[in-house]
Amino acid sequence: MSSVAYLVFVHYGFYKLVIKSMRRVKIIGTGSYVPEKVLTNRDLEKIVDTSDEWIRTRTGMSERHIASEKDKASDLAIKAAHRALKDNNIPSEDIDIILVATATPDMFFPSTACFVQSSIGTKRSVAFDISAACSGYIFALSVAEQYIKSGKYTTVLLVSTEVCSRYIDWTDRNTCVLFGDGAAATVLKGVNGNRKDGIISTHIYSDGRYADLLYMRGGGSSYPLNHESIDNKLHFLKMKGNALFKIAVKNMTEVAREALAFNGYKISDIDLLIPHQANKRIIDAVAKNLDIPQEKIFINIEKYGNTSAVSIPLALDEALKEGRIEKGDLILMVAFGGGLTWGSALIKW
Ligand code: UT7
Repeated sequence: MSSVAYLVFVHYGFYKLVIKSMRRVKIIGTGSYVPEKVLTNRDLEKIVDTSDEWIRTRTGMSERHIASEKDKASDLAIKAAHRALKDNNIPSEDIDIILVATATPDMFFPSTACFVQSSIGTKRSVAFDISAACSGYIFALSVAEQYIKSGKYTTVLLVSTEVCSRYIDWTDRNTCVLFGDGAAATVLKGVNGNRKDGIISTHIYSDGRYADLLYMRGGGSSYPLNHESIDNKLHFLKMKGNALFKIAVKNMTEVAREALAFNGYKISDIDLLIPHQANKRIIDAVAKNLDIPQEKIFINIEKYGNTSAVSIPLALDEALKEGRIEKGDLILMVAFGGGLTWGSALIKW
């Protein structure tokens, strides 16, 4: 190689490195979809021994949306995906990769992401699911961030979708009042330049020692679906609410503090906190620990209940459409869920 060619080669490599380090991940479209059917606390009073008063005071929930019998997780996901693409007139051919965050997929395989891909017609995009229960969105956001920052992909369609109602024991008042169905999509794009907007950081964690606090045992290779597993109700979600509550408050507080400290911000710098919506009392306890005022927290749990991986992107979409987020705002998202899993995303809008 001549010395000139060598210099060009070295400079090109250096240039590519600089571009990579300046590559930012921006959210360029959001959309959501919830099924029409609404199940109110009053409706639940007719199904199990509960009361509107208990549900509202213990959880902050008033109603939740329930998918129709024919709707699968992919059906909700596709509707949300179309809305997110339309949000900014993003052509579906631009999508390099589709990530679907769900704990309630259409089936074990193919992945729900493959059904989404075939419906929205992005033949060249790779598609797969991410399973991290209620933290699924933050986990998928972190995966998308790595792919985009590395330069491997430019445009990511991330869809969270859940049909929780299908895994609920409708005779168990401890769980059936809590969950709702829905989907929410986010389109992410890699952009170059030295501006500061986009994802600042993501932090994700797992601790399998606490797997028995929230699970759905039946149907997998440990408890395949058969008469016995169905008689024992293993195909329904089970939860140890009290224990989860305490760990959720602790871990969401810690991960929020970590996101701020890691990037040199104070809690007063945050314009909007978007927490996972599992229980209003969990959100209140995290807010108290962080010393963040209520008006800086986005809460819509009263309308949707706990929609698992959907709750954060659904809240993000609503916050944007309600004008609660402006250019330059600092947004902190914190999630917690079965696994256990938890995480944060700090975003400059
Ligand atoms: O999405 C991520 C994972 N999810 C979570 O992190 C959820 C965390 N946990 C929670 O949100 C709360 O623990 C629950 C909402 C699940 C339960 O609230 P709690 O204040 O922790 O209630 P509890 O489990 O301590 O139960 C208190 C009482 C019990 O009665 P006794 O034993 O004291 O007589 C329950 O049987 O409330 C009773 N109870 C109900 N009563 C009326 C439980 N569910 C109901 C109900 N209606 N739906």
